[in-house]
Amino acid sequence: MRKKNIIVVGLQWGDEGKGKIVDLLAKDADIVARYQGGNNAGHTVVSGDLSLVFRLVPSGILNEEKICILGNGVVIDPVVLFQELEDLKAIGINIKGRFFISYKSHIIMPYHKRLDIARERLRGAGMIGTTGRGIGPAYEDKVARLGIRAVDLINRDLLYKKIVLSLKEKNHLFKNVLGEDVFNPDDLIEEYLNYGGKIQEFLIDSSIFINERLDKGFNVMLEGAQGTFLDVDHGTYPYVTSSNTVGGSALSGIGLGPTKIDEVIGITKAYTTRVGEGYFPTELKGEEGRVIRDKGEEFGSVTGRPRRCGWFDVNLIKEAGRLNGATGMAVTKLDVLSGLGKINICTGYMLNGSVINHLPFSSADYDKAIPVYEEMEGWSGDISSIKSFKDLPVNSQKYILRIEDLTGLRINMLSVGKERMQTINLKNIF
Ligand code: IMP
Ligand code: MG
Repeated sequence: MRKKNIIVVGLQWGDEGKGKIVDLLAKDADIVARYQGGNNAGHTVVSGDLSLVFRLVPSGILNEEKICILGNGVVIDPVVLFQELEDLKAIGINIKGRFFISYKSHIIMPYHKRLDIARERLRGAGMIGTTGRGIGPAYEDKVARLGIRAVDLINRDLLYKKIVLSLKEKNHLFKNVLGEDVFNPDDLIEEYLNYGGKIQEFLIDSSIFINERLDKGFNVMLEGAQGTFLDVDHGTYPYVTSSNTVGGSALSGIGLGPTKIDEVIGITKAYTTRVGEGYFPTELKGEEGRVIRDKGEEFGSVTGRPRRCGWFDVNLIKEAGRLNGATGMAVTKLDVLSGLGKINICTGYMLNGSVINHLPFSSADYDKAIPVYEEMEGWSGDISSIKSFKDLPVNSQKYILRIEDLTGLRINMLSVGKERMQTINLKNIF
């Protein structure tokens, strides 16, 4: 039987703990690939004394037998990429011959970053709360057919023409609308050609590369960034990122057909967090939210912003399960909930007098839809070294079983601490 190909996706608003789970699952995958997003992502992996944050490179890179790929759906800031590769070198990780980039991936340019930040300022109170990394403007240029692809960085004439074209409208915007300095293509060309020289050795066609290896019996794990409700179509629009984060886009973001995938594993925290603005029905704005934030160290790994914290939301997870076709899930950070007394699970939203079991259709209704809760007894004590489900406090077992019951998704893995070891396996994935 051939080895399984799997997709790992966040079921919430990102930061579900995908880094740790992907790192664990990587031992059973020959290839780990990212299919969307850019350095707006931040995957934290803890191994012994080392705590590493990856923004761009797949978290599978720590495992030196694995091949890691950035697919065509990813947007790449070369400044960040080469810094990250330097950092990996500094801790002794060898990437030679096992790290690749799709030649079709798009490049984040300095003008994208300036545009991202200036646009947020223009929005004022209606800001999205982006990471300010130029992600949205880079994807806009891709769709507007103004984007610079990784392969363009190695051709001076082409690159120059593309920068000139992309700046035509943008310089007008910078100067006349946003009150920002304009860019001169002559100031960018040498630096980005230099990146081209460095990126060349990594360029591949991710579709050819992966499909050829699958034919030879290799398997692949596709690693999502952000989370389902930051998806530009299915998320809490307009408070979303600028890519499709759901499992379906994993295929187009790498050049693989849907028939190749065996499992889709969703990752969720045992509670909910969100960073940036936007709809968050189960948010705890008071003391309980602060307790979860401090205990769970809920601060953005890219921007350092405090994450908003709230109760587990069955509506979200059910919807995410459907949108991704999830075949199972991993629940992370259960240990953070120890000692809370009572714990709530949101089972629906009350909107205009009736209960709905999906996100409100119109963003005008976001603030009117009020969560309906089921209260559960909490548990206490440090559960972070518990190795099997039956040794967990009874109330935490009940909480987990209730989550499975309400979401209809089987839990494969339960994470009770940051370390790789602090994981309870319930059902094998591979
Ligand atoms: P952008 O992706 O920088 O355009 O930001 C759009 C929204 O997505 C903001 O609310 C960000 O905080 C959020 N976001 C982007 N990437 C991540 C992530 O990796 N984890 C959590 N939130 C993210
Ligand atoms: Mg993150």
